[in-house]
Amino acid sequence: MKIVSVINYKGGVGKTTLTANLGAELAFRGRKVLLIDLDPQSSLTFSFIPPDLWQKEYSESKTIKNWFDSLSDGGSITLTDLIFTPRATNDTLNGEGKLDLIASHLGLINVDLELATELGGASLKQAQKKFLKVHSHLLNGIEEINDYDIILIDCPPNFNIVTKNAIVASDNILIPAKPDYLSTLGIDYLIRSLNSLIEDYNDYAKISNKEYEEIAPEIIGVVFTMIQIHGGQPISALRPFISQTKRLGIPVFDNYFRENKTIFADAPQYGVPVVLNRYSGITYQGVVSEIEQLVSEFAKKIGI
Ligand SMILES: Nc1ncnc2c1ncn2[C@@H]1O[C@H](COP(=O)(O)OP(=O)(O)OP(=O)(O)O)[C@@H](O)[C@H]1O
Ligand SMILES: [Mg+2]
Repeated sequence: MKIVSVINYKGGVGKTTLTANLGAELAFRGRKVLLIDLDPQSSLTFSFIPPDLWQKEYSESKTIKNWFDSLSDGGSITLTDLIFTPRATNDTLNGEGKLDLIASHLGLINVDLELATELGGASLKQAQKKFLKVHSHLLNGIEEINDYDIILIDCPPNFNIVTKNAIVASDNILIPAKPDYLSTLGIDYLIRSLNSLIEDYNDYAKISNKEYEEIAPEIIGVVFTMIQIHGGQPISALRPFISQTKRLGIPVFDNYFRENKTIFADAPQYGVPVVLNRYSGITYQGVVSEIEQLVSEFAKKIGI
């Protein structure tokens, strides 16, 4: 089982769209996929189930917020308790595959604040121990889950403790980004923050008397999103940003998401990601086939 976090602390770069389409297409290809929505905005959740269903069935006691909340009373809820199978997307699957979800909740914002109060300590050693504990909650929680080929975690646009929990729990990191100046700067900064978290965690883990293991989440690469296409190619103004990212030494996916506001803006409200919708039309089919190629590249890169 592979655990992959989809991260970028820039907002609106296509994290949720990438997570939803990747998960859905992999499930269509027969993989068992679990999506975890770790963003209080809950966009991934609402891409698969309507808000009224969430309100009725999940909001009270079946979201990732409840799991984090229960940690303080000894962990009465397990992640498995929260898993459900969103209907619309699963109805489009016909093979062995399935797509399950753990929903999010706006109250997850407070979880971050509460976790932050658990950090620190009277001595350096105590502070290091608390750092490991606070950042490894999700890693421990996921350990009991084993009936999936892949878990995809959709992270919020920040680098708070909940996001760091996702990184610590992950085998791989996937970075969606828009090809523009500020986003390219952001990638460099993101990589440094990632490396610094991993370094701190491992430094403390080494001196934890084997209580904690070292981690090694690996960056699979940057997926460019919202690419403007002209004559079958990304428009020339975008190319410098793509090559600049490659120069940072970060792998860049050959395939990308092209920009199409109509197609991408509408899909979430029907509960089925773009790649599994059955619309016709040349533009639509072009977009779908690009996503399919991206998913193949992804699957090959992580070996599932
Ligand atoms: N390829 C695309 N072309 C056009 N619009 C897109 C594309 N991908 C996503 N969008 C739209 O851009 C907006 C942001 O996308 P998305 O929610 O996936 O980004 P995000 O990085 O998850 O955002 P956030 O940081 O708020 O979580 C959404 O309205 C979505 O419909
Ligand atoms: Mg999002």
